Formats: sequence, structure tokens, C-alpha cells
Amino acid sequence: MTTTISFLALAVLLPVLFIIDHQHQYINCQHVHEIHNAIVLIRGGPKSGGLVRGELRFRENKNGRVNIRGQIEGLAKGQHGMHVHQWGDISLGCEKAGSHFDAHHAAHGARGSHAHTGDFGNIVAADNGVARVNINDSFVELHGDNSIVGRAILVHEHRDDLGQGGNNKSLITGNAGSPVGCGVVAWDD
Ligand code: CU
Ligand code: ZN
Repeated sequence: MTTTISFLALAVLLPVLFIIDHQHQYINCQHVHEIHNAIVLIRGGPKSGGLVRGELRFRENKNGRVNIRGQIEGLAKGQHGMHVHQWGDISLGCEKAGSHFDAHHAAHGARGSHAHTGDFGNIVAADNGVARVNINDSFVELHGDNSIVGRAILVHEHRDDLGQGGNNKSLITGNAGSPVGCGVVAWDD
């Protein structure tokens, strides 16, 4: 009798223990992946003469916003369009990265109105050619279907007109011209 009761108790308890342990593991797993970090090293494309270089770090916080911070040097003074492009292929310089990363089939523009997922607008280089970057963005993600990890960041020779240029190209590329530097977003710890 005692043996039967013990056996029954065990039969009930074991699955419960398993579920608790499983949930525990799941929670641990979630915890490990709660905060995502990524990095991109920007290097000059053919048109920059190899002078452009820099580093941007991406940190995704708990509410899903991504902070992008770093600096890019070797730029001409002034504004330069910067975008996430579709592909991470930089095998031929910065020319094979495809169009702007566009997860939601929008037109090119700027945050606050219509914009591609990858539209970061402009970065601004000072007299010394250094652009300091500190962007908080709620459009790009480091995880999931719309992750930018593995895609390329391109910095362009001209100012991005943010879709206000009054021609077709403005709603596709922002008339930002050729890329002067690029790199592929990679996981960081
Ligand atoms: Cu671009
Ligand atoms: Zn765009």
C-alpha cells in the first residue's frame, strides 16, 4: 500500500518537477538574451580612398530601443547619409549591399514620417572629418525577423535629403550618392 502511494506521488511529482525545471531553464535563456549588443566596423569604400574608418556599437535595451554610438573619421566636413542596407555582402567594396533595408515596404524618408527601417538620416562630420554618432532608434532591431545583424551599414558621400528632394530617387535613396564607407553588423558580447 505504502509502495503504491509512493509510486503514485512520484508519478505526479516528476512531471511537475520537470515543468518547473524547464521553465527555470527557459527563464534563464530569456535572461541571457534579454540585452543584445552588436558592433560594426566601418571601412572606406573605393571612392573614399580608404580614409574612412570607424566603429559603431549597438545596444538594445529592455524596451526595444537601440542605442547606436561611436565615431567615424576621414569624412568630408558636413552631412552624410547613413543607412542599413539589405545585404551584408561587402566583398566588392560597398556596392553590393543592395537597397535600404525596408522591412515594412515604406518609401525612403526620415524617422517621424515615412521611412525605411534602415534610414538613420545624416551623420555630421566636423572640420576634422570626425562624425560622432549617438542615435536612439526604435525601428531597427538586433533580434528576430527584422534584425540588422548580418546586414551592412553604409555611409554616403552626400547629405541624405530624407525623402524631401522632390524627385523619384529621393524616395528611394535620399540622393545621398555613392558610399564612402561600410561594414557588416556583427554580434558583440
Ligand atoms: Cu545607404
Ligand atoms: Zn531609405
